[in-house]
Amino acid sequence: MAENDLLIRAARCEATERTPVWMMRQAGRFLPEYRAVRAKHSFLEMCYTPELVVEVTLQPVDLIGVDAAIIFSDILVVFPGMGLDLDFQSGKGPVIGNPVSSAHDVDALAIPDPEVSMGYVMESHRLLRRELAGRVPLIGFAGAPFTLASYAIEGGSTRDFQRCKAFMFNEPAAWDALMTKFAKTVTAYLCAQIDAGAQVLQLFDSWVGAVAPRDYAASVLPYTKMVLDGVKAYDSSVPLIHFANGATSMLDLVQQAGGDVIGLDWRLDMAHAVERIAPRFAIQGNIDPVTLFANEEVIDAKVGEILAAVGTRPGHIFNLGHGISKETDPARAKHFIASVKEQSAQVRGARA
Ligand code: CP3
Repeated sequence: MAENDLLIRAARCEATERTPVWMMRQAGRFLPEYRAVRAKHSFLEMCYTPELVVEVTLQPVDLIGVDAAIIFSDILVVFPGMGLDLDFQSGKGPVIGNPVSSAHDVDALAIPDPEVSMGYVMESHRLLRRELAGRVPLIGFAGAPFTLASYAIEGGSTRDFQRCKAFMFNEPAAWDALMTKFAKTVTAYLCAQIDAGAQVLQLFDSWVGAVAPRDYAASVLPYTKMVLDGVKAYDSSVPLIHFANGATSMLDLVQQAGGDVIGLDWRLDMAHAVERIAPRFAIQGNIDPVTLFANEEVIDAKVGEILAAVGTRPGHIFNLGHGISKETDPARAKHFIASVKEQSAQVRGARA
């Protein structure tokens, strides 16, 4: 089978004959084939077992036709190596048994050696590159310091981020120490994923939309930038996707933090994004994931609107504005992927 490197070329703002497309959370519960594996194993057991990681990572590539594989894992797998007890409870999501609540707790956190503490992720990358054999690029990922800090401090998912932001406001020195530890951990973890075979990396700042722009600039951006600059300095050839969910009101700051590709949620119209994102960045996004609950004509029309807004600007990776919902009909997801491929070939192919 021919090699498909569309995603890598688009991430570098090179011309492509069509727009590459993948979906955040594509390796997951919307697929019955995933649920069949999950019925036999806990979520963390799956993350820790390279053979199972390979199996579910390949499912959306084989079944849905996406242009990239994203390694099945979780942003929170760095926690155990740092000394944070991690569990996933059904109906509740992630639970951290010993959340961070003081400077003393921050001091106790380790910066793990990724090969030792997350070796199963590196082994999964190596197996996946062999299995994929160039069919599509392999994406590695990590959580950004703020999003990780929110779980570490809140002890799980939260709606209002009260503990996390109060810590940021009240304990600036401890916050700096915590964010620096996360930045160092994540930088080493992403560099190890490059060594193990990841060809593109995505940094998920999933909850950064909860902070005000001034707080982002002062207390979050420097640490995100530390990660993105650090990985760039380690290997400048690997494209970095910076997904700052809910942060389109501070898109200038998100660009300052860095990356090669700016990942967009669906709250900003693509026509405005194209105006506000500097030409040196590629753009990833940004259809509302709930569009996949609409009929095929609506999906086609909404895909067409985004492609028209991007036009022939180089460097577009089509994606959802956030993770695919677990109730999504796989047939609709498949239609969405085919629609992007077909329509974008008409827009871009004429020019290539
Ligand atoms: O994109 C992919 O397909 C790769 C796999 C992936 C998962 N989590 C698998 C997963 C990725 C990239 C993540 C990242 C992740 N994990 C994020 C950032 C992504 C985003 O959406 O912004 C966050 C915030 C987490 C933390 C996390 N993991 C939560 C809050 C939950 C519970 C969610 C829920 O609805 O139950 C998880 C669990 C999780 N991560 C599942 C999967 C497939 C579901 C686990 C299961 O099968 O029960």
